[in-house]
Amino acid sequence: MKILLKNCKLNNETLNILIKDNIFDYIGKNVPDVDTEYDLKNLTVIPGVIDPHVHVRDLKQSKKEDWTSFSEAALKGGVTTVFDMPNTRPPTVNLQYLNLKREKAKAAKINYKFNIAATSQNIPELIEILDTKPEDVVALKLFLAGSNSNEFVDDKEIIKIIFEISLKYNLPVIIHTELQQCVDEYSLKVKNPTAADHNFIRNRECSVKGTELVISLAEEIGNKIYLAHISTAEEIDIIKENKNKCRVFCEVTPHHLLLNEEILAKAGNFGKVNPPLRTKNDNKRIMQGINDGTVDTIGTDHAPHLLSEKLKDYSEAPSGFPSIEISLPLLLNELNKGNFTLKKLTELTSGKSAEIFNLKNRGKIAEGYFADLTVADLNKTWKIEAENFKTKAKYSPYEGMKGKGDVVMTFVNGKLKYQKKF
Ligand code: DOR
Ligand code: ZN
Repeated sequence: MKILLKNCKLNNETLNILIKDNIFDYIGKNVPDVDTEYDLKNLTVIPGVIDPHVHVRDLKQSKKEDWTSFSEAALKGGVTTVFDMPNTRPPTVNLQYLNLKREKAKAAKINYKFNIAATSQNIPELIEILDTKPEDVVALKLFLAGSNSNEFVDDKEIIKIIFEISLKYNLPVIIHTELQQCVDEYSLKVKNPTAADHNFIRNRECSVKGTELVISLAEEIGNKIYLAHISTAEEIDIIKENKNKCRVFCEVTPHHLLLNEEILAKAGNFGKVNPPLRTKNDNKRIMQGINDGTVDTIGTDHAPHLLSEKLKDYSEAPSGFPSIEISLPLLLNELNKGNFTLKKLTELTSGKSAEIFNLKNRGKIAEGYFADLTVADLNKTWKIEAENFKTKAKYSPYEGMKGKGDVVMTFVNGKLKYQKKF
């Protein structure tokens, strides 16, 4: 099967892209004979988005999301590869539960990999999984604090053991850096908290201290660490300082880049997320971190929960909200505003993740690579209306926001899987 994408805007040139089966076969000015062709009329093409941080749920939480609803949402957002987090029910802590997840993930319409939880309780099980050299396992996930009842590790010696395993098996550790003890201390300081107190309770100090701790341990052990959803200016500074001293990489979410606690008065628990939305100054520093090379990737931390759960009181409502289908449009809007270049955007959304997590022949539009590709219309305007979401979680702290730059087509392994209806 041969498909030709004619008149693609790729790196400021107008080129034709030939896809043969699931691979980019040719990129250039020629017009080869094919089975199907699409005239993209100079729309921008970028590598399919790789999202290294999603919570697909499914299994016992399929009411929140399953692989089918998740895939639809991902495709609408131009996402072609995801890494699923292990804090599912049951959690991905052993081979048996990983196999359950593998069964469910067969319904996926996108590429996927799994992260395995690393806790004080599952070291032998973790090693058992890694000894099978699983191609679908991409990283270990370590939580330094509870966040929706996952197990967390607060013992330095256990963290070191996990880092040794990471080094031995050559797999990065993805880390949620908030420190539980610190969160506990701040929790005691607020009586009758509301969503507006979330940034104080899960205090920035807890994120900063956790980031310092894991960087110092990674310097000692020498393994690769990937700090998820960095939320504070201080952490950007610390990571920047240490990038040359150890193998530290960092991710930011669209919400820590674009939203801050000022929206909580209106958004309430819809904006409750861990780590919390911080301040305007943090938004600014994260954007600088993107442009100075400190930030490696954008991960959505797509974290769907039931609307009924999010409508509970602050203390009862779970943290996290859906974002996979709006992340790329939000970033294209920032591109349109001139906040970063298209080259930077594609580094953040695909190139760097492929590199950090050793994804072979993905993350680039180049001959011989897997044909994962997203077509964007930089002039198309949008308004976020969560009732139209594909995810099962139909609410959003971005509700009503308007912007410019949208996804119009998504190809996964050479197949057109999504096309926007006008
Ligand atoms: O807000 C969050 N939600 N942060 C996390 O670390 C977990 C996630 C979830 O699983 O809902
Ligand atoms: Zn997460």
